[in-house]
Amino acid sequence: MTDNVESLSYDDFLKRACKAFDLNWRKYRRRATRRNLEERIRRLGLAGYANYLERLRNDPGEADHLPDVLRVTVSRFMRERERWETLRNSILPLLLSGRSSSAPFRAWSAGCCGGEEPYTLSLVWLDQPPSDRPLKVLATDIDEDALLRGRTGCYETNSLRELREPLVQKGFRLQGGKWCVREEVRSPVVFRNQNLRADPLPENMDLILCRYFVFTYYRGYRRHEGAERLWKALRPGGVLMIGKKEGLGPGERQEFFTPWPGLEGFYVRKELKTVPPPLGSAAGMVGQTPQPGL
Ligand SMILES: C[S@@+](CC[C@H](N)C(=O)[O-])C[C@H]1O[C@@H](n2cnc3c(N)ncnc32)[C@H](O)[C@@H]1O
Repeated sequence: MTDNVESLSYDDFLKRACKAFDLNWRKYRRRATRRNLEERIRRLGLAGYANYLERLRNDPGEADHLPDVLRVTVSRFMRERERWETLRNSILPLLLSGRSSSAPFRAWSAGCCGGEEPYTLSLVWLDQPPSDRPLKVLATDIDEDALLRGRTGCYETNSLRELREPLVQKGFRLQGGKWCVREEVRSPVVFRNQNLRADPLPENMDLILCRYFVFTYYRGYRRHEGAERLWKALRPGGVLMIGKKEGLGPGERQEFFTPWPGLEGFYVRKELKTVPPPLGSAAGMVGQTPQPGL
Protein backbone atom coordinates (compact mmCIF):
# COMPACT_ATOMS: atom_id res chain seq x y z
CA MET A 1 0.00 0.00 0.00
CA THR A 2 1.41 3.40 -0.96
CA ASP A 3 0.31 6.71 0.58
CA ASN A 4 0.32 10.01 -1.17
CA VAL A 5 3.36 11.87 0.24
CA GLU A 6 1.56 15.20 0.22
CA SER A 7 -1.52 13.91 2.00
CA LEU A 8 0.01 12.39 5.12
CA SER A 9 0.24 14.88 7.97
CA TYR A 10 2.17 14.37 11.18
CA ASP A 11 -1.08 13.62 13.03
CA ASP A 12 -2.17 11.10 10.42
CA PHE A 13 1.22 9.47 10.51
CA LEU A 14 1.04 9.09 14.30
CA LYS A 15 -2.48 7.68 14.14
CA ARG A 16 -1.59 5.08 11.55
CA ALA A 17 1.84 4.18 12.87
CA CYS A 18 0.65 3.77 16.47
CA LYS A 19 -2.18 1.53 15.35
CA ALA A 20 0.00 -0.54 13.03
CA PHE A 21 2.92 -0.93 15.42
CA ASP A 22 1.11 -1.35 18.71
CA LEU A 23 2.08 1.92 20.34
CA ASN A 24 0.22 4.37 22.47
CA TRP A 25 1.40 7.79 21.36
CA ARG A 26 -1.50 9.73 19.91
CA LYS A 27 -2.10 12.09 22.77
CA TYR A 28 1.57 13.05 23.04
CA ARG A 29 2.02 15.28 20.06
CA ARG A 30 4.97 17.18 21.37
CA ARG A 31 7.34 19.36 19.43
CA ALA A 32 10.43 17.35 20.43
CA THR A 33 8.80 14.11 19.26
CA ARG A 34 8.07 15.65 15.91
CA ARG A 35 11.63 16.98 15.66
CA ASN A 36 13.09 13.53 16.38
CA LEU A 37 10.82 11.97 13.79
CA GLU A 38 11.73 14.48 11.10
CA GLU A 39 15.40 14.06 11.91
CA ARG A 40 15.06 10.30 11.48
CA ILE A 41 13.25 10.71 8.14
CA ARG A 42 16.02 13.04 6.95
CA ARG A 43 18.74 10.67 8.09
CA LEU A 44 17.13 7.83 6.17
CA GLY A 45 16.96 10.06 3.07
CA LEU A 46 13.17 9.73 2.82
CA ALA A 47 10.76 12.30 1.41
CA GLY A 48 8.19 12.53 4.22
CA TYR A 49 5.82 10.78 6.59
CA ALA A 50 4.21 8.62 3.93
CA ASN A 51 7.57 7.28 2.78
CA TYR A 52 8.59 6.63 6.34
CA LEU A 53 5.37 4.73 7.02
CA GLU A 54 6.07 2.63 3.95
CA ARG A 55 9.59 1.98 5.22
CA LEU A 56 8.22 0.94 8.60
CA ARG A 57 5.87 -1.51 6.96
CA ASN A 58 8.71 -3.14 5.06
CA ASP A 59 11.51 -3.01 7.59
CA PRO A 60 10.87 -4.77 10.91
CA GLY A 61 14.13 -3.40 12.36
CA GLU A 62 13.00 0.18 11.73
CA ALA A 63 9.52 -0.59 13.09
CA ASP A 64 11.08 -1.99 16.25
CA HIS A 65 13.11 1.22 16.63
CA LEU A 66 10.05 3.51 16.19
CA PRO A 67 9.21 4.00 19.90
CA ASP A 68 12.76 5.21 20.53
CA VAL A 69 12.35 7.76 17.74
CA LEU A 70 9.02 8.95 19.13
CA ARG A 71 10.33 9.36 22.69
CA VAL A 72 8.79 12.08 24.80
CA THR A 73 11.25 13.86 27.08
CA VAL A 74 9.16 15.69 29.65
CA SER A 75 9.63 15.52 33.41
CA ARG A 76 9.68 17.64 36.55
CA PHE A 77 10.87 17.42 40.14
CA MET A 78 8.59 15.63 42.63
CA ARG A 79 6.16 14.80 39.81
CA GLU A 80 3.01 13.56 41.56
CA ARG A 81 4.09 14.51 45.02
CA GLU A 82 1.80 12.03 46.83
CA ARG A 83 3.73 9.18 45.22
CA TRP A 84 6.99 10.49 46.66
CA GLU A 85 5.41 10.98 50.06
CA THR A 86 4.22 7.38 50.03
CA LEU A 87 7.69 6.29 48.99
CA ARG A 88 9.32 8.25 51.79
CA ASN A 89 6.83 7.52 54.57
CA SER A 90 5.79 3.94 53.85
CA ILE A 91 7.86 2.16 51.23
CA LEU A 92 11.44 3.11 52.07
CA PRO A 93 11.19 2.38 55.82
CA LEU A 94 9.69 -1.05 55.13
CA LEU A 95 12.05 -1.81 52.28
CA LEU A 96 15.01 -1.03 54.48
CA SER A 97 13.75 -2.61 57.69
CA GLY A 98 15.39 -5.83 58.74
CA ARG A 99 18.23 -5.40 56.24
CA SER A 100 21.19 -4.56 58.41
CA SER A 101 23.60 -3.86 55.66
CA SER A 102 26.02 -1.02 55.12
CA ALA A 103 25.92 -1.59 51.38
CA PRO A 104 24.44 1.24 49.32
CA PHE A 105 20.70 1.25 48.67
CA ARG A 106 20.54 0.87 44.90
CA ALA A 107 17.88 2.56 42.84
CA TRP A 108 17.42 2.79 39.09
CA SER A 109 15.54 5.55 37.32
CA ALA A 110 14.75 3.93 33.95
CA GLY A 111 13.89 6.65 31.42
CA CYS A 112 15.27 9.37 33.71
CA CYS A 113 14.85 12.21 31.19
CA GLY A 114 16.77 15.32 32.36
CA GLY A 115 17.47 13.99 35.86
CA GLU A 116 14.42 15.41 37.64
CA GLU A 117 13.30 11.96 38.83
CA PRO A 118 16.63 10.55 40.11
CA TYR A 119 17.50 13.87 41.74
CA THR A 120 14.08 13.89 43.44
CA LEU A 121 14.93 10.56 45.04
CA SER A 122 18.29 11.94 46.09
CA LEU A 123 16.55 15.01 47.59
CA VAL A 124 14.04 12.88 49.47
CA TRP A 125 16.86 10.76 50.89
CA LEU A 126 18.89 13.82 51.86
CA ASP A 127 15.91 15.52 53.48
CA GLN A 128 14.91 12.59 55.64
CA PRO A 129 17.42 9.74 55.45
CA PRO A 130 15.50 6.50 55.91
CA SER A 131 18.67 4.68 56.93
CA ASP A 132 22.43 5.10 57.41
CA ARG A 133 23.01 3.34 54.15
CA PRO A 134 24.33 5.48 51.35
CA LEU A 135 22.10 5.96 48.30
CA LYS A 136 23.21 5.16 44.76
CA VAL A 137 20.97 6.05 41.84
CA LEU A 138 21.57 4.83 38.31
CA ALA A 139 19.83 7.20 35.89
CA THR A 140 19.46 5.93 32.33
CA ASP A 141 17.94 7.25 29.13
CA ILE A 142 18.50 7.10 25.38
CA ASP A 143 18.17 10.82 24.79
CA GLU A 144 21.62 12.45 24.84
CA ASP A 145 20.21 15.98 25.26
CA ALA A 146 18.23 14.84 28.29
CA LEU A 147 21.29 13.13 29.77
CA LEU A 148 23.33 16.28 29.27
CA ARG A 149 20.64 18.27 31.11
CA GLY A 150 20.86 15.74 33.92
CA ARG A 151 24.65 15.84 34.13
CA THR A 152 24.59 19.63 34.10
CA GLY A 153 21.93 19.59 36.82
CA CYS A 154 20.57 23.13 36.32
CA TYR A 155 16.85 23.77 35.76
CA GLU A 156 14.25 26.44 35.03
CA THR A 157 11.98 27.45 37.92
CA ASN A 158 9.05 25.71 36.24
CA SER A 159 10.66 22.27 36.70
CA LEU A 160 10.69 22.81 40.45
CA ARG A 161 7.07 23.89 40.79
CA GLU A 162 5.97 20.82 42.79
CA LEU A 163 8.80 21.15 45.31
CA ARG A 164 8.17 22.80 48.66
CA GLU A 165 10.30 25.84 49.40
CA PRO A 166 12.44 24.27 52.20
CA LEU A 167 13.44 21.45 49.87
CA VAL A 168 14.36 23.93 47.14
CA GLN A 169 16.58 25.76 49.61
CA LYS A 170 18.10 22.51 50.83
CA GLY A 171 18.79 21.00 47.43
CA PHE A 172 19.55 23.84 45.01
CA ARG A 173 21.46 27.05 44.56
CA LEU A 174 20.49 29.76 42.12
CA GLN A 175 23.14 30.23 39.48
CA GLY A 176 22.80 32.41 36.39
CA GLY A 177 18.99 32.38 36.68
CA LYS A 178 18.79 28.57 36.95
CA TRP A 179 18.35 26.25 39.89
CA CYS A 180 21.36 23.96 40.13
CA VAL A 181 21.39 20.86 42.33
CA ARG A 182 23.83 20.99 45.20
CA GLU A 183 26.69 18.50 45.34
CA GLU A 184 24.99 16.41 48.06
CA VAL A 185 22.04 15.87 45.70
CA ARG A 186 24.15 15.31 42.64
CA SER A 187 26.77 12.91 43.98
CA PRO A 188 24.57 9.80 44.49
CA VAL A 189 23.33 9.96 40.88
CA VAL A 190 25.18 8.49 37.89
CA PHE A 191 23.83 9.06 34.38
CA ARG A 192 24.24 6.52 31.61
CA ASN A 193 23.04 6.23 28.04
CA GLN A 194 21.17 2.97 28.00
CA ASN A 195 18.40 1.60 25.84
CA LEU A 196 16.08 -0.29 28.17
CA ARG A 197 15.02 -2.58 25.37
CA ALA A 198 18.43 -3.59 24.11
CA ASP A 199 21.37 -2.82 26.40
CA PRO A 200 22.69 -4.90 29.31
CA LEU A 201 20.65 -4.46 32.46
CA PRO A 202 21.74 -3.42 35.92
CA GLU A 203 21.22 -6.11 38.56
CA ASN A 204 20.06 -6.46 42.10
CA MET A 205 18.26 -3.13 42.35
CA ASP A 206 16.38 -2.37 45.58
CA LEU A 207 14.05 0.09 43.85
CA ILE A 208 13.17 0.92 40.25
CA LEU A 209 11.42 4.12 39.21
CA CYS A 210 9.87 3.60 35.80
CA ARG A 211 7.24 6.24 35.19
CA TYR A 212 5.62 7.47 31.99
CA PHE A 213 7.73 5.25 29.77
CA VAL A 214 7.19 1.46 29.44
CA PHE A 215 3.71 1.43 31.00
CA THR A 216 2.52 4.48 29.10
CA TYR A 217 3.90 4.11 25.59
CA TYR A 218 4.36 0.41 24.99
CA ARG A 219 1.76 -2.22 24.28
CA GLY A 220 1.92 -5.88 23.35
CA TYR A 221 5.30 -7.61 23.17
CA ARG A 222 7.31 -4.44 23.85
CA ARG A 223 5.47 -3.85 27.10
CA HIS A 224 5.83 -7.48 28.14
CA GLU A 225 9.56 -7.43 27.40
CA GLY A 226 9.94 -4.10 29.20
CA ALA A 227 8.19 -5.46 32.29
CA GLU A 228 10.35 -8.57 32.20
CA ARG A 229 13.55 -6.53 31.98
CA LEU A 230 12.52 -4.43 34.97
CA TRP A 231 11.65 -7.59 36.86
CA LYS A 232 15.09 -9.06 36.10
CA ALA A 233 16.90 -5.95 37.31
CA LEU A 234 15.20 -5.96 40.74
CA ARG A 235 16.50 -7.97 43.66
CA PRO A 236 14.07 -10.42 45.24
CA GLY A 237 11.68 -8.32 47.32
CA GLY A 238 12.68 -5.16 45.40
CA VAL A 239 10.06 -2.56 44.50
CA LEU A 240 8.86 -0.95 41.27
CA MET A 241 7.27 2.51 41.35
CA ILE A 242 5.11 3.64 38.41
CA GLY A 243 3.15 6.81 37.59
CA LYS A 244 -0.27 7.78 38.89
CA LYS A 245 -1.86 7.49 35.47
CA GLU A 246 -0.32 4.06 34.88
CA GLY A 247 -1.26 0.58 35.98
CA LEU A 248 -0.04 -2.96 35.49
CA GLY A 249 -2.29 -5.38 33.67
CA PRO A 250 -3.38 -8.81 34.95
CA GLY A 251 -0.62 -10.57 32.96
CA GLU A 252 2.10 -8.38 34.41
CA ARG A 253 0.73 -8.87 37.90
CA GLN A 254 0.51 -12.58 37.42
CA GLU A 255 4.00 -12.99 36.02
CA PHE A 256 6.21 -10.26 37.42
CA PHE A 257 4.88 -7.96 40.13
CA THR A 258 2.57 -8.08 43.13
CA PRO A 259 0.82 -4.82 44.08
CA TRP A 260 2.11 -3.48 47.39
CA PRO A 261 -0.85 -4.04 49.69
CA GLY A 262 -2.86 -0.85 50.17
CA LEU A 263 -0.44 1.47 48.36
CA GLU A 264 -1.20 2.41 44.78
CA GLY A 265 1.58 2.60 42.23
CA PHE A 266 4.05 0.33 44.04
CA TYR A 267 4.76 -3.28 43.15
CA VAL A 268 6.98 -5.94 44.69
CA ARG A 269 9.01 -8.25 42.49
CA LYS A 270 7.36 -11.60 42.23
CA GLU A 271 9.48 -14.70 42.55
CA LEU A 272 9.03 -17.24 39.84
CA LYS A 273 9.81 -20.76 40.74
CA THR A 274 9.91 -23.68 38.40
CA VAL A 275 8.29 -26.68 40.01
CA PRO A 276 7.64 -30.05 38.49
CA PRO A 277 4.08 -30.01 37.15
CA PRO A 278 1.64 -32.16 39.09
CA LEU A 279 0.81 -35.39 37.32
CA GLY A 280 -1.79 -34.81 34.66
CA SER A 281 -1.28 -31.02 34.63
CA ALA A 282 0.37 -28.83 31.97
CA ALA A 283 1.36 -26.10 34.44
CA GLY A 284 5.09 -25.67 35.12
CA MET A 285 5.53 -22.18 36.54
CA VAL A 286 4.12 -21.13 39.84
CA GLY A 287 4.23 -17.50 40.98
CA GLN A 288 4.90 -16.99 44.68
CA THR A 289 3.75 -13.87 46.41
CA PRO A 290 6.68 -12.26 48.23
CA GLN A 291 6.42 -10.32 51.47
CA PRO A 292 7.25 -6.63 51.04
CA GLY A 293 10.52 -5.73 52.70
CA LEU A 294 11.90 -9.22 52.81
C1 LIG B 1 8.12 11.01 29.52
S1 LIG B 1 9.78 10.76 30.01
C2 LIG B 1 9.54 10.26 31.69
C3 LIG B 1 10.57 10.85 32.60
C4 LIG B 1 10.43 10.47 34.08
N1 LIG B 1 10.48 9.03 34.26
C5 LIG B 1 9.16 11.03 34.68
O1 LIG B 1 8.20 10.30 34.91
O2 LIG B 1 9.11 12.24 34.91
C6 LIG B 1 10.21 9.20 29.20
C7 LIG B 1 11.72 9.04 29.07
O3 LIG B 1 11.99 7.72 28.59
C8 LIG B 1 13.08 7.79 27.68
N2 LIG B 1 13.11 6.61 26.82
C9 LIG B 1 12.31 6.34 25.76
N3 LIG B 1 12.64 5.17 25.19
C10 LIG B 1 13.70 4.69 25.92
C11 LIG B 1 14.48 3.50 25.84
N4 LIG B 1 14.24 2.56 24.91
N5 LIG B 1 15.45 3.30 26.76
C12 LIG B 1 15.69 4.23 27.73
N6 LIG B 1 14.98 5.37 27.85
C13 LIG B 1 14.00 5.60 26.96
C14 LIG B 1 12.83 9.09 26.92
O4 LIG B 1 13.98 9.56 26.26
C15 LIG B 1 12.32 10.01 28.05
O5 LIG B 1 13.34 10.75 28.61
